[in-house]
Amino acid sequence: MTNQVQILEPGARKLPSKKDHPAGKCLISRRKMLFSSGMATATVMVSVNAGPAAAKMPAMVATYPRKKIAKLGELKTDVPIGFEYPDDGAFASSMLVKMGTEAGGGIGPQKDVVAFNYFCTHQGGDLSGTYKGDTKSLGACPLHLSTYDLTRHGILISGQAYQSLPQVLLELDGDDIYAVGVFGLIFGRYDNLQG
Ligand code: FES
Repeated sequence: MTNQVQILEPGARKLPSKKDHPAGKCLISRRKMLFSSGMATATVMVSVNAGPAAAKMPAMVATYPRKKIAKLGELKTDVPIGFEYPDDGAFASSMLVKMGTEAGGGIGPQKDVVAFNYFCTHQGGDLSGTYKGDTKSLGACPLHLSTYDLTRHGILISGQAYQSLPQVLLELDGDDIYAVGVFGLIFGRYDNLQG
């Protein structure tokens, strides 16, 4: 049985055909799906090949919202602001900070504005209030002392965790900063969009 996914809405973009795709299975990458729409969901058609006849059925696929977080011109260096993303559910608390130091995934003229989820990837310790401007890090975690480097995509500096802190992907539109996705799995979720 082979499943094929094609976007019908919004925009009705033409996707590569099966012969163009070496794997011949999924015709759209997760990244392409995440950034193809500002909508929270998109309607897709799922083709199920079961023998000679192919049935098509509509399905809803969740995508990350595009959420305005802050204005670049109002940020103060090393002063984080909090926000909820990708929803208002559990473990959605996140922080945005202008660090004054170029960082992986950073936006703005200095590429120094980044955002991360606030929950430790080890056992979900709350990292709010632990940002350190001198080391551009988040931590130490109040539970087992994990500390994360915000200049390098939230990689672990020390402690019990073994996964990087989920980084909130940002876009700059004029002076407005938008959250548009999350790189890495948020603690406590089996899917970032299923809070
Ligand atoms: S929960 Fe953060 S180090 Fe264990």
